[in-house]
Amino acid sequence: MRLQSFVPVPSVRSVRSVRLPPPLLLLLFGLCSGTSFPTNINIGGLFPTGSHEYEVFRFALAQNQDVPKLVPQVDMVDTSSSFAMTYAFCSQFSKGVYAIMGLYDRRTVNMLMSFCGSLHVCFVTPSFPVLTNNQFVLQLRPQLQEPLMALLEHFYWNHFVYMYSSNSGLSVLQRILDTAAERSWQVTSVNLDTLTEVSFIKLLADLDYKKEFQIIIDCELERLNSIINLIAAQKRNLKNYHYILNNLGFLDLNVTEFQNLGPNVTGFQLMNRSDPLVQKINQEWMEFDSRDLKLVRRRLKYTGALTYDGVIVMATAFNNLRRQRIDISRRGNAGECLANPPAPWGQGIDIQRALQQVRLDGLTGRIQFDERGHRTNYTLTVMELSPAGPRKMGYWNEKQGYVNTAVYKPVLEEFHGLQNRTYVVTTILEAPYMMLKTNHEKLEGNDKYEGYCAELASEIAKHVGFSYRLQLVGDGKYGARDSETKMWNGMVGELVYGSADVAVAPLTITLVREQVIDFTKPFMSLGISIMIKKPTKSKPGVFSFLDPLAYEIWMCIVFAYIGVSVVLFLVSRFSPYEWQGDDSDDEDETLPSSSSRRPPPTSSSELTQSPGNQNQQKEKEAPEHTNDFGIFNSLWFSLGAFMQQGCDISPRSLSGRIVGGVWWFFTLIIISSYTANLAAFLTVERMVSPIESAEDLAKQTEIAYGTLDGGSTKEFFKRSKIAVFEKMWSYMRSADPTVFVKNTNEGVVRVRKSKGKYAYLLESSMNEYIEQRKPCDTMKVGGNLDSKGYGVATPKGSPLRNPVNLAVLKLNEQGLLDKLKNRWWYDKGECGTGGGDSKDKTSALSLSNVAGVFYILIGGLGLAMMVALVEFCYKSRIESRRMKELIDAAMMSTTLGGMAVAGGGVAAGGLGGASGLGGENGRVVAHDFPKAGAQGLPCMSKAAGLGLSSTGM
Ligand SMILES: *[C@@H]1O[C@H](CO)[C@@H](O)[C@H](O)[C@H]1NC(C)=O
Ligand SMILES: *[C@@H]1O[C@H](CO)[C@@H](O)[C@H](O)[C@H]1NC(C)=O
Ligand SMILES: *[C@@H]1O[C@H](CO)[C@@H](O)[C@H](O)[C@H]1NC(C)=O
Repeated sequence: MRLQSFVPVPSVRSVRSVRLPPPLLLLLFGLCSGTSFPTNINIGGLFPTGSHEYEVFRFALAQNQDVPKLVPQVDMVDTSSSFAMTYAFCSQFSKGVYAIMGLYDRRTVNMLMSFCGSLHVCFVTPSFPVLTNNQFVLQLRPQLQEPLMALLEHFYWNHFVYMYSSNSGLSVLQRILDTAAERSWQVTSVNLDTLTEVSFIKLLADLDYKKEFQIIIDCELERLNSIINLIAAQKRNLKNYHYILNNLGFLDLNVTEFQNLGPNVTGFQLMNRSDPLVQKINQEWMEFDSRDLKLVRRRLKYTGALTYDGVIVMATAFNNLRRQRIDISRRGNAGECLANPPAPWGQGIDIQRALQQVRLDGLTGRIQFDERGHRTNYTLTVMELSPAGPRKMGYWNEKQGYVNTAVYKPVLEEFHGLQNRTYVVTTILEAPYMMLKTNHEKLEGNDKYEGYCAELASEIAKHVGFSYRLQLVGDGKYGARDSETKMWNGMVGELVYGSADVAVAPLTITLVREQVIDFTKPFMSLGISIMIKKPTKSKPGVFSFLDPLAYEIWMCIVFAYIGVSVVLFLVSRFSPYEWQGDDSDDEDETLPSSSSRRPPPTSSSELTQSPGNQNQQKEKEAPEHTNDFGIFNSLWFSLGAFMQQGCDISPRSLSGRIVGGVWWFFTLIIISSYTANLAAFLTVERMVSPIESAEDLAKQTEIAYGTLDGGSTKEFFKRSKIAVFEKMWSYMRSADPTVFVKNTNEGVVRVRKSKGKYAYLLESSMNEYIEQRKPCDTMKVGGNLDSKGYGVATPKGSPLRNPVNLAVLKLNEQGLLDKLKNRWWYDKGECGTGGGDSKDKTSALSLSNVAGVFYILIGGLGLAMMVALVEFCYKSRIESRRMKELIDAAMMSTTLGGMAVAGGGVAAGGLGGASGLGGENGRVVAHDFPKAGAQGLPCMSKAAGLGLSSTGM
């Protein structure tokens, strides 16, 4: 038993010696100030002589300037002696400490726990963690079981040696043995406490002989250091060894000699040495060290950091209690440590609660305790020994478990060393990506295959510079995770489990796959698209000559024709200039005009006469006033003009010519348009597809549509939140018979067999390919519904990843990928290039295309009618004046017969008195005769000329 009474900081000691002993002092405080909070808080301390923890404890208390002030009551004890510990504990308790900080040993931990539990005194410790529910023991050191198990899982260890010291190692051993039983691991456990140096060296030789290369060492820093030195001293080649050091101070170890022997070493580091706070405290610690205690200069170790954090936790807790004005004064029951039954300290629970609720960021990271007083919400850095020294490999925390963050060396460096091997490229048979050549039996190796991906793989290999061997995926699958075994199958599985180095195949880049393998940038983009049966081409029908113009245009032309004829007729009736003497007989040869006033015999006799003998006719008996444009002639004239054949009658009056002019213009435009459009219509076979987009599909119920059962396309519809796709999904889900098919081929066959009543949704690249395959009766319609990409895949961290990615990008930029696609989709297609019907599709001219001509026509007709009215009025005025003169003259000299003739003319006008009055009838025919003849000739010749030119056309 070595019980040492320590004399703390001299100043404190002197103060205390001058004043009253602490219990009395406190009593006084209590009496004088009621519930006022003590300004000095006595903190007990139980440390072994000369321990790092004790030094840091002193340092931390000196650093701490918080109110209330923490006053240490330290006993230097042998932590492995129960008697010494009990004595020291009780003496401190009876002196009235509020909490105790210190270390324990496996032999004293239980005794300490029971004291704390029964007396309600808090014990704050940086010592090894124990699995206990005693909330009065606050353990600053995090547990290491879980992080260790996570590492074992990460390294797939199932056969290893576990070396431990019985202090901390027993609970970990328990955990390891439980798991080992469960998973049939082979674990050799070695208790370091039972070994001497000599027997340990023997053990090492033994392990080497048995090829036990995977070793966990679990003990405190000092012993760990000496073990490592002992192993290093053997000068054995450790290249095959992998050590896991189950200790939180990886950076506190002295590993330089050990490292030179080349073992793989993994361990944990609690304190983040690059944290500015840690660096600052460490600096202060070094200075404090040299100034005050004249101790050996040494860095703050993680156990010291834990102690420092423990002091900060206590300072914070008491500060909180003070601020909350909670009465924690110790009256009365001081010194009843060994009373039977023990009397718990009434305020102990308040202090315990205050300590446990402290949350702060200390030197050892996030400090937070759970209700059992264990650290929680902490993060451990996982370190490994690289040739350049220790480096971070990942981290562990409760929420995420072990996370590997190791950065691999620049790929190219590593890659050059590997170029000499033949890489295994896994792929899958899928036309046109990867196909067996027709004569593949005679061929060897990569030559057996052809297709888009076969060429892509060879291009990539050429760019990166490696040799490869194509290997079809064993199970013929792309790769998904089995929901029960959690194993990956297909090409993804081959990459994950290392049986292939690269996958070059139509492998869709997805989140779950990207989590386990690396993808390059996509070499092909695609999306879900619609496949329908090609509508049968419509052969030009019997009446297809009607197609170039829309139906309504034809109707309008008919109405325009009738309208023009009627207007022409009316205008000719009104216009005085359209009436003439019998000089127009010849124009009537073809049509005995209803409007003609000539006696039938005359006209029939004249049928054979040529225009040349007009003069003779004019010399015939009583001349008559006629009008060529009766209703039938008007219709005939219009028809002749429309057919571009002309007609041997033609209007003379301005109004009639306006009508004729606009009609000819109209005809010109309509006929030209028709002719132009007709050519396109007769040569192009038109296809009318009932579906143009996903919206079209969703709108109708006649055409069924579906997807592959259990593929990503089905998933897409199931998850989509877009209204159209939701509607399609609700249809597909409930459709009967089912619209889902088992494989792509079945879907294509169903499209082909269903006479256009089934549409299949599949990836656009496949859709385009099948469109180019015989019997060429499917087609892709509409755009893509989503977008995704195919990528080349490599295992995570593969040296090939970067070069392959660069190669894919380069091939893309060089346009080679497009060239490959053209080659395998279209050049090797079986359907020719008759595709692009969507572009040069001709459609009938609609009314809006030619509406302008109709406006001109209508305007022209209106104008003609107005002109006719003007002509009529003008002529009537002239005629009435002349008539008056004539009548006057007649009154004087001539017979009544002339009048009678004129009167007959009036009756014959057929348009009533107005016409008769306004007509040329009013003229004395003999008088006017030469004039009319002169007028008729040029008009006639013009009409004849027009007729000629028309026929010429
Ligand atoms: C040591 O680590 C390297 C790199 O992580 C690894 O390739 C090697 O297999 C490891 N050696 C042992 C013995 O575990
Ligand atoms: C864990 O610690 C972080 C700070 O490091 C804190 O924000 C978070 O609230 C803590 N989580 C819990 C559950 O207390
Ligand atoms: C590549 O491998 C061949 C045969 O395995 C060997 O002869 C050659 O030296 C190797 N080249 C390099 C650069 O390693």
